[in-house]
Amino acid sequence: MALGSASRYAEQPFVLLISDRPSERAALERSIALVMDCRAVDAGAALPAERPHLIILDAPPDRALALETAYRTAKPPVPRLVLARGERPFPMGAHLRVLPATTSRQVVLANVFALIEEATRSAKMRARRLGEHVTGATAIVADLFDSAALGAGLQRADIDRGTELVLAAVSEVGIGAWLEAVWRHDIGVYQHTLGVAGHAATFGSQIGLGRADLDRLVRAALLHDIGKSRIPVDILNKPGALNAEEYRLMQRHPDIGATLLKTQGEFEPEVLDVVRHHHERLDGKGYPDRLAGSAISDLVRIVSICDVFSALTERRTYRQPASGPEALAIMVEAQGHLDPDLLRAFAPVMLGSDALAA
Ligand SMILES: [Fe+2]
Ligand SMILES: [Fe+2]
Repeated sequence: MALGSASRYAEQPFVLLISDRPSERAALERSIALVMDCRAVDAGAALPAERPHLIILDAPPDRALALETAYRTAKPPVPRLVLARGERPFPMGAHLRVLPATTSRQVVLANVFALIEEATRSAKMRARRLGEHVTGATAIVADLFDSAALGAGLQRADIDRGTELVLAAVSEVGIGAWLEAVWRHDIGVYQHTLGVAGHAATFGSQIGLGRADLDRLVRAALLHDIGKSRIPVDILNKPGALNAEEYRLMQRHPDIGATLLKTQGEFEPEVLDVVRHHHERLDGKGYPDRLAGSAISDLVRIVSICDVFSALTERRTYRQPASGPEALAIMVEAQGHLDPDLLRAFAPVMLGSDALAA
């Protein structure tokens, strides 16, 4: 079952009440609405795109199970209350409370209010932790770029800490909430770096990378544009297209970045490879080395996809960002640039259905 972009937050938190019993649905809706917005829908109706604060499921056993399963892996978790019917016990799960459908309305309501209270408390805690993670990661990225610009050494420990913060935040709240926080927090190259790192963390987990590979991928994403620290700010922030000379300078950032890290001597060759080659294309028309096909490593291919997707969907002062589906269409159309198999694997991240990633 596809929930589309169910990872998006609604303006106002709401309880989603799914019930095939119209009079019971209307009665519960009235009472819940006194406490929080309540969207009441029939058990066969389409699900809202925004994530609910809490879901109440009152449907025949198979339908209830299908709906519950659709929300089970949402990030962050959505608490569910199931009013169970039938003989078979409803399978238990995290953030799930099950009551018999015969429970009195007053007891159901008391449970609903307790779950709303619990969900509000955890949402506040998550928001606070996410804020801390974004602030911490932004400070680290800002420091990296400042140190690189000044010719000072990059602290490997800081980059590892940044990697940890990105991975912790994305696994806890999902890429949607991470990007919302990153985009609120800062602009420009730091925002881009944290966006690429967030996408890399999500994509890497989705394709089942082990912890060491995942760490390396996120570290490479955090460092991929470090060479931009030596590109003049007015070129970096220029609204609109660059002229030929500016473009030539800008194209030097992969080489500058890789040289910088190599001099430092603390970074693995795979990370240097990403920094130097993230603008190569499979058809050999990229830069700086015009690598083609198998000469481009998997790690580079993954970061290139995250890089292009982030760049297309970021807010810039001079243009509207592309939506996930628009960005995907642009990337699929640009044949010869990105790895088509990896693009297919990345599509769920681009289409915003990370809330359902298993
Ligand atoms: Fe770049
Ligand atoms: Fe980039």
